[in-house]
Amino acid sequence: MLDKILRKKPSVLDGSLAERVTELKKRQIPAHVAIIMDGNGRWAKQRNLPRVAGHHEGMKTVRKITRMANELGIQALTLYAFSTENWKRPKMEIDFLMKLPGEFLSTYLPELIEQNVKVEMIGNFDKLPGHTKTAIQKAMEATKDNDGMVLNFAMNYGSRLEIAETVKEIVTLVQEGSLAITDINETLIGSHLMTAHLPEPDLLIRTSGEVRLSNFMLWQLAYAEFSFLDVLWPDFDEVCLLNSIEEFQMRNRRFGNVEGEGNV
Ligand code: IPE
Ligand code: IPE
Ligand code: MG
Repeated sequence: MLDKILRKKPSVLDGSLAERVTELKKRQIPAHVAIIMDGNGRWAKQRNLPRVAGHHEGMKTVRKITRMANELGIQALTLYAFSTENWKRPKMEIDFLMKLPGEFLSTYLPELIEQNVKVEMIGNFDKLPGHTKTAIQKAMEATKDNDGMVLNFAMNYGSRLEIAETVKEIVTLVQEGSLAITDINETLIGSHLMTAHLPEPDLLIRTSGEVRLSNFMLWQLAYAEFSFLDVLWPDFDEVCLLNSIEEFQMRNRRFGNVEGEGNV
């Protein structure tokens, strides 16, 4: 598979990059990587282009990073594509962003299927426009039996909304009598979140120099390692991802303990 990519993208994925992938795979690869894809607007502004041109360019990065994450053996890649707060943006920008899943998936669905990637989504699906829902549903249906990497789009996602929905679900179960208050614990709460079936994110990457979570996976990121990069999302590439993984592998994750587990 990597040979195939090497042939397609000789400029980025040269032999030394393939060697680096091999080296990184000797150590722990994060099971779940979550990325806040930020900086599309600034990328466009730097080039005197409309903001949406940055979003369009960012889609190409999604393709590159999906392929590389899959190559690394990452089990789940969650990409923050649209937040519950992004509805505050101008209508024209929102309309463009809502068309991107359709464009991305109509172009790249065949290669996602070929790569055994499973497309999933977290977020409030119901409030998305019909055409966006159709595109996502089609991709999820077409890849539902794939057992490779999960490509999880956080679309109309907000962590506080997710937690509020979880609380409602749990309270309903208690009211119905099918759950006792004493059964409520961290594991149970985790099992009601939209990410219940995924491993917890080990690594969070945010591009564009912003150092904040912007309502992204507040519960799930409790013990993730953070990698904040100055690079704008359309400029993020395979080398940036490998650098973040390498940085992750050098961290000493202690999980509250004294000694920790050593370097991963
Ligand atoms: C990230 O890029 C994409 C979305 C939030 C949808 P931005 O559009 O936030 O880009 P900047 O932060 O304005 O540069
Ligand atoms: C976070 O980026 C949301 C996504 C990347 C989808 P924003 O650009 O919306 O975040 P803020 O507004 O700078 O916090
Ligand atoms: Mg932004």
